[in-house]
Amino acid sequence: MTHPSGCPVSHTNYMQARPALEHYALLDREREEGPLLINDAMPWEFTMVTRYDEVRAALQSTGFSCEVTNAMNVPRQIDIIPNMLDGEEHIKVRKVINPFFSPAAVKRMEPFALERVTALLDELQPAGSCDLVADFAIRYPTEIFLEQMGLPLTDADFFLPWVETVFGGLIGTEKEAAAAASAKIEEYFDATVEDRRAHPKDPELDLVSRLIEARIDEEPIPHQDILTICKTVMLAGLDTTRSALGYIYRHLALNPQHRQRIVDEPTVIPKAVEECLRMYPLVFQVGRLAAKDVDINGHRLDQGTITWLGIGSANRDPRKFEDPESYNPDRPGVNQHLAFGLGPHRCLGMHLARLELVLVLREWHKRIPEYRLREGVELMERGGQLSLTTLPLEWEMA
Ligand code: HEM
Repeated sequence: MTHPSGCPVSHTNYMQARPALEHYALLDREREEGPLLINDAMPWEFTMVTRYDEVRAALQSTGFSCEVTNAMNVPRQIDIIPNMLDGEEHIKVRKVINPFFSPAAVKRMEPFALERVTALLDELQPAGSCDLVADFAIRYPTEIFLEQMGLPLTDADFFLPWVETVFGGLIGTEKEAAAAASAKIEEYFDATVEDRRAHPKDPELDLVSRLIEARIDEEPIPHQDILTICKTVMLAGLDTTRSALGYIYRHLALNPQHRQRIVDEPTVIPKAVEECLRMYPLVFQVGRLAAKDVDINGHRLDQGTITWLGIGSANRDPRKFEDPESYNPDRPGVNQHLAFGLGPHRCLGMHLARLELVLVLREWHKRIPEYRLREGVELMERGGQLSLTTLPLEWEMA
């Protein structure tokens, strides 16, 4: 079917849960239908940009606004800063928070991250099995986030259900519960910010203290914006890292030769992480609104067009990556994927995410070099922002 604009039409609802990896198959198929598609599965129509060169150009274009940050979730239910900011306003906030997530700052987290991986493995290894998603992949980034924010690790117990519930609303239909969980997260950070106002910590090392001290155009950051920034960093960092681990471990459990290389040659791990992020991008689209008429490599998007920048289909585009469905950590330009986005909104936490993923793979495979997927389980993935719902793994006990 063709739209009056001349673009093919997609009816695919990418919010739906599906068997694992089915979203990628759909994205691959639709990319080959055209560089631009019109999707009509939501109450609003949006334009899907599907191929690598076009998605890359659009991510870097100044013609779009982040009034829309998710083409499948318009209007947005909760404020997210810096994601929803544009232009100068966005740059000024990023300048305040970027130093906390720079490679050097992230490096400081390494000893703690190592300690936590070791503690989690001490707990899991003797059991001989786990649900990687629930027992490991979410606990690990949550503990690192809490440490980074100077918060007690025991708070992880109530953080996790809040994050799940907020995502349930952003991605599914549980909007009221999500709004309530989002309010709880803000209440929690409200208490944290008040505590730091009374007992400031070193603003070089403590994000909340830095947000309190920072001046933008000589004005302090409004209290509500500080809460929104804390909440955004939490929501953006925990679910993504958990999901990335799910896909990586699924791949390695099913491909013993790729796993064996990680065991035998740990220096391949950083490249293996990049290749998995390319093949299994969990943030498979980001949304934008065309702020004016925009030209993307000769394709016109009218002002006001709700636009989907298809990271998932771009990362698997054979025009850019030869034999894109094959895992090849040695491929040239292995890190040229768009899994962390590009341009001004490129992922704030990408250095942290990379450190977390590399460290886990290194330590895990020293201790549990062989493992398999439990037989007879059909793996499902959440739509919207992809995540395996479970990943039951088994290994022989030492
Ligand atoms: C494998 C893990 C991760 C993936 C795949 C990922 C992916 C992305 C992508 C694609 C964007 C671009 C959004 C856009 O252009 O609209 C983004 C932005 C962002 N990410 Fe990540 N992310 C990951 C981990 C993290 C972590 C660990 C944190 C925090 C500690 C984080 C915080 C953020 C924030 C705050 C933004 C918004 C940046 C802005 O709008 O300026 N992410 N991420």
